Order: sequence, then C-alpha cells, then structure tokens
Amino acid sequence: MNIPNHVAIIMDGNGRWAEERGLKRSEGHRNGGLALEKIALCAKEMGIKYLSVYAFSTDNFKRSKEEVDYLMNLLIKYFKDKLLTICKEDIKVVFSGRYNPLRNDVINAMESIKNTTKDNKKCTLNICLNYGGQEEIVDATLKIHYDLNNNILKEEDLTRDTFYHYLYADLPPIDLLIRTGKEHRLSNFMLYQLFYAEIYFTDVYFPDFLETKFKEAITYYQNKDRRFGNVKSN
Ligand code: IPE
Ligand code: IPE
Ligand code: MG
Repeated sequence: MNIPNHVAIIMDGNGRWAEERGLKRSEGHRNGGLALEKIALCAKEMGIKYLSVYAFSTDNFKRSKEEVDYLMNLLIKYFKDKLLTICKEDIKVVFSGRYNPLRNDVINAMESIKNTTKDNKKCTLNICLNYGGQEEIVDATLKIHYDLNNNILKEEDLTRDTFYHYLYADLPPIDLLIRTGKEHRLSNFMLYQLFYAEIYFTDVYFPDFLETKFKEAITYYQNKDRRFGNVKSN
C-alpha cells in the first residue's frame, strides 16, 4: 500500500556512533556501509523504485585528510565487494555529484559499477558522492544556458518538470526524506527534488538504522496526507 516511489536518506551520525563506543570515526563509516546494504535490499524488496543516499558532500572535503582518505578507500572497496550482490538483486547504481576533485581511482570504481549495473531494472540506487544541492542547480543552469544558446532547448519548453533532465541523475521527485543522527537540517541535499517531500527525522545514528527502523519511516510516510498545495477532497 502506498509505497513511496523515491526515498532519499541523509545517512548521518556515523562518527558519533563510533565516538560513543570509544571507537575511531572510521569504524562508524564502515558500519554505516553495512547498514546501507541492508536498507538498499529492504527498499528493493518493498518495491521502492528509487533510493538516493548522501554518501559524501562537497563540504565534507573540509574534514581531515585522514578521514577523507578513509572514506574514499572505503567507497572503492564497497563498490568492488558489493557488486555481485547488487547485480544479483537487479539494482542499478547511478551517481550524483561532481567528479572534480575526486581521485582517479574513485572515479574509475564509480564508472565500473555504473556500467556493470546499467541494465538492472528493479531499483535504482543513486549514490550522492561529492554532491551538493546548490552545486547541482548551478551545474544544471550552465547546461540549460548551453542548450538555449545552441537551440537544443526552447525557452517555452523549460518548466519545473523538464528542469529535472538537467540534474545529475534524471530521477523523479523525492517522496520521503529520512535524516538519521539527530540533526534537523538539509545540509545541501537534493534541494530541487525535495520540493514536496515528507520529512522523517530520527535520533538513531545511521549504523543502527536497520530494516525495522526503515520500515517505521515508511509507515510514517504512509500516514501522511499529501496535498501538494490543493485542499483535501471529500
Ligand atoms: C555521515 O556521518 C557520513 C558522512 C558525512 C560521510 P558523519 O561522519 O557526519 O557522522 P557525525 O555526524 O559526525 O556523527
Ligand atoms: C551530511 O552530513 C552529509 C552526509 C550525510 C554525507 P554532515 O554531517 O556533513 O552535515 P552537517 O555538517 O551536520 O550539516
Ligand atoms: Mg554528520
């Protein structure tokens, strides 16, 4: 019943999860990766067609070189190790974000998983990596400017719906946004696509956000009356 088409997750709280256990922040990231695998499979089983996850923001480059390097190496390893499962589960992986200034080995790993899974059909996993929502809108604006100048796009054909084609991944609007880890903010995540999203905040840190917790967020969504600016009919 009423399964959201596109769910997005700000996977926050990995560092605090680790610190509260006297562990290094990197352990939190590693466990966050394990949680993501479980959630992605659960989402697919529930019939969710699109899952967008915030893995690394453009602003996360402000962190220590040690943490950034750890995260990049973890992502490469993750894409390699999880490839078989992802293919078996018929999940297509796409990315949102800028390549620059990502390392070449990270870009190669991204390209490889993207190409290998491109014909998968059940669910699309959009990994936002070196991603910023404002950056995405700026980059879309530049592409639109180019297409208008070269008569590829007519001014009257640019609408709030066609604008999506210019975003990093041409995905539908987000129905449900989940943010784990206590904070109630967007942190520059998918600003355009979130326009009518229901928003679910939970104090649970991402490594503890497993299937049961994810299903609670879906139930929250299912109990919402979405009006899109209209009034309730009946
Ligand atoms: C989210 O967890 C993952 C990334 C930003 C890469 P954090 O690393 O932000 O964890 P906290 O918020 O410091 O606990
Ligand atoms: C958002 O979390 C980015 C990711 C989850 C990848 P942050 O931890 O970077 O956000 P702030 O700094 O708390 O706003
Ligand atoms: Mg954080």
